Amino acid sequence: MKGKGRLLLILSIISVLVIIFSQCMNSEPELKAAETTRAGAETCKQCHQKVYDNYLHDKHSITSRPVKNDDIVKNAIPKSDAYPFTKELKVVVEKRKDGMYQVAYFNGEKGIARRFDVAFGSGKNVYTYGSWTGNGMAQLPLSYLRSINDWVNSPKFPKDRPYYFQPVEPRCFECHSSKLEYTPIENKGLSVGVKMEEKSLIYGIDCERCHGPAGQHVEFHIKNPEEKQSRYITLYKSLTRKQKIDACAVCHSGNSQHKLQPTFGYKPGEDLAAYYAERADPVYAGAEPDVHGNQVHLMEKSQCFIQSKSLDCSTCHNPHSSQKEGLTVYSKKCMSCHATIKHSEKTLSNAMVKTNCIDCHMPLQPSELISFQQAGQKDVTPYMLHNHRIAVY
Ligand code: HEC
Ligand code: HEC
Ligand code: HEC
Ligand code: HEC
Ligand code: HEC
Ligand code: HEC
Ligand code: HEC
Repeated sequence: MKGKGRLLLILSIISVLVIIFSQCMNSEPELKAAETTRAGAETCKQCHQKVYDNYLHDKHSITSRPVKNDDIVKNAIPKSDAYPFTKELKVVVEKRKDGMYQVAYFNGEKGIARRFDVAFGSGKNVYTYGSWTGNGMAQLPLSYLRSINDWVNSPKFPKDRPYYFQPVEPRCFECHSSKLEYTPIENKGLSVGVKMEEKSLIYGIDCERCHGPAGQHVEFHIKNPEEKQSRYITLYKSLTRKQKIDACAVCHSGNSQHKLQPTFGYKPGEDLAAYYAERADPVYAGAEPDVHGNQVHLMEKSQCFIQSKSLDCSTCHNPHSSQKEGLTVYSKKCMSCHATIKHSEKTLSNAMVKTNCIDCHMPLQPSELISFQQAGQKDVTPYMLHNHRIAVY
C-alpha cells in the first residue's frame, strides 16, 4: 500500500509538472480579439497618453470630420457668404434649422440645396465638403480656401454653373479616413455606384490605420499589465526601408496607379503590390509625378534617397510630433548628412544658405492637378506644395 501511495504521489506530481510545462511551451494566451479586430483610438490613450495627446495636433487626425452645427470653417469667418458663377447664377452659404447649406439661386429664385455633412482636409489650405445623398455622397460646389479666406469653385468643377452631382468616391475616404464599409450597386449586371454605410465611417486617420488593427495588442496588455515588451503589434523599427515607405505610400504615392483592392485593409509590413499595380497605365510611365499627394515617387528620384540607402519619410517627419517643425529644424536634418557642401560664391551670398535648405532644394511648386477658381477672376489660384525630389533647381 505504502509503495502504491508513493507511486500515485509521484504520478500526480509529474502530471502537474506536465501541465505547467505544456503551458510554458504553449505561451500564446487565449485572446478573444481576432487579428483584424480594431480597438479604436480612445483605448490607446490609457497606456500611450503622450503619443495620443501629440497625435491630436497632427493633421492626419483631422483630415476628415463631421460638420457639426455651423462649424464649417475652423478659426475663421469667411470674407463672403456667396459665390457668383454668372450675373444670374450664384451659390449662397446659408444657415438652416438642421445645419449649413449650399443653396443655388437663379435670378434670385431658390434652386437646389445640399447640406454640409463632412469636411475633407485639415483645412490647413483647403476644405472640400461632402453631403450624404441617401446611398452615397455628393461633393459640394464650393470649397473654402484658407489663403484668401473665401469660397472658391471646387477643383475641376464646371466654371460657369454650380454642380451638385459629383460623387465622392470611396477612394477619397481611403486616403482621408480610417474605415468605410460600402457595397456596389448593380443594375442589369452593370455597376452603377456604391452604397456607403454612413455609420461605419471612422473619421480622420487614426492610430490603427498606420499601425494595423490593435485589438489583440490591447487585450493582451490589459490582461498582462506587468509585460513591458509590446506584443501583437508591428514594430516600425523592425521594418525594412521599403516597408516603412510603403506604410506612407498607401496614401502618398499619387492616384494614377491601377488599384487592385481597397487599401483600408493594409497593415504595415505588408507588400503594397497587393493593393496597387505599380504604374500599370503606360500613359503615366515616365511622366513627372505631380507635387500633390505623390511625395513617395518624388523622394525616390532624389540622389539623397538613391545614394544614402537610409533616407525615408521618418528621417524628416514624425507623425506624433506635438509641434509643427519649422524649416530650420528640417534643414538640420539635411545637415546631418551634408556636413560640408560645395556651394558657389553666388549661392553662399544668399542669406538663407545656412538656415534654410528647403526653399532652394525642395521648392514650393504649383500642382498641375489641383488649382482653385475664384469668383470673377480669369486666373486660378495655384495649390502650392514642396517638391519632394531634393535637388538643385
Ligand atoms: C493596456 C495597455 C496598452 C494599450 C491599451 C495599448 N497599448 Fe500599445 N503598448 C503597450 C505596451 C506595454 C507597449 C510596450 C512599451 C512601449 O513601447 O510603450 C506598447 C507598445 C506599442 C507600440 C510600439 C511598438 C514599438 O515600436 O516598440 C505601438 C505602435 C502601440 N503600442 C500601439 C498601440 C495602439 C495603436 C493602441 C490602441 C489601439 C495601443 N497600443 C493600446 C500597452 C498598451
Ligand atoms: C491613410 C492615408 C495616409 C497614410 C497611411 C499616411 N498619410 Fe500622411 N497624410 C494623409 C492625408 C490625407 C494628408 C493631408 C492632411 C490634411 O488634410 O491636411 C496627409 C498629410 C501628411 C503630412 C503633412 C502634415 C501637415 O502638417 O501638413 C505629412 C508630413 C505626412 N502626411 C506624412 C506621412 C508619413 C510620414 C506617413 C507614413 C508613416 C503617412 N503620412 C501616412 C494621408 C495618409
Ligand atoms: C500617420 C501614421 C501614424 C499614425 C496616425 C499614428 N502613428 Fe504611431 N507611429 C507611426 C510611425 C511611422 C512610427 C515610427 C516612428 C519612428 O520610427 O520614428 C510610430 C511609432 C509609434 C510608437 C512607438 C514609438 C513612440 O513614439 O513611442 C507608438 C507607441 C505609437 N506609434 C502609437 C500610436 C498611437 C497610440 C497612435 C494614435 C493615437 C498613433 N501611433 C498614430 C505612424 C503613425
Ligand atoms: C491617394 C490618396 C488621396 C486621395 C485618393 C485623395 N486625397 Fe486628398 N489629399 C491626399 C494627400 C496626401 C494630401 C496632402 C497634401 C498633398 O500632398 O497634396 C491631400 C490633401 C487634400 C486636401 C487639402 C487639405 C489641406 O488643407 O491642405 C483636401 C481638401 C483633399 N485632399 C480632399 C480630397 C477629396 C475630396 C478627395 C476625393 C475626391 C481626395 N482628397 C482624394 C491624399 C489623397
Ligand atoms: C540620409 C542622408 C541624407 C539626408 C537626410 C539628405 N541628403 Fe542630400 N544627399 C545625400 C546623398 C548620399 C547624396 C548624394 C551624394 C552627394 O551629392 O553628396 C545627396 C545629394 C544631395 C544633393 C545633390 C543632388 C543632385 O541631384 O546632385 C542636394 C542638392 C542635396 N542632397 C540636398 C539635401 C537637402 C536640402 C536635404 C534636406 C532637405 C538633404 N539633402 C537631406 C544624403 C542625404
Ligand atoms: C529630407 C526631408 C524630408 C523627407 C525625407 C520627406 N519630407 Fe515631407 N516635407 C519636408 C519639408 C521640409 C516639408 C515642408 C514642411 C513645411 O512647410 O512646414 C514637407 C512637407 C510634406 C507634406 C505637406 C505638403 C507640402 O508639400 O508642404 C507632406 C504631405 C509630406 N511632406 C509627406 C512626406 C512623405 C510621405 C515622405 C516620404 C515619402 C516625406 N514627406 C519625406 C521634408 C521631407
Ligand atoms: C539660395 C539657394 C540655396 C540654399 C539656401 C541652399 N542651397 Fe544647396 N545648392 C544651391 C545651388 C544653386 C547648388 C548648385 C551649386 C551652386 O551653384 O552653389 C547647390 C548645391 C548643393 C549640394 C550639392 C553640392 C555638393 O556639395 O555635393 C548640396 C548637397 C546642397 N546644395 C545642400 C544644401 C544644404 C544642406 C543646404 C542648407 C544648409 C543648402 N544646400 C542651402 C542652392 C542653395
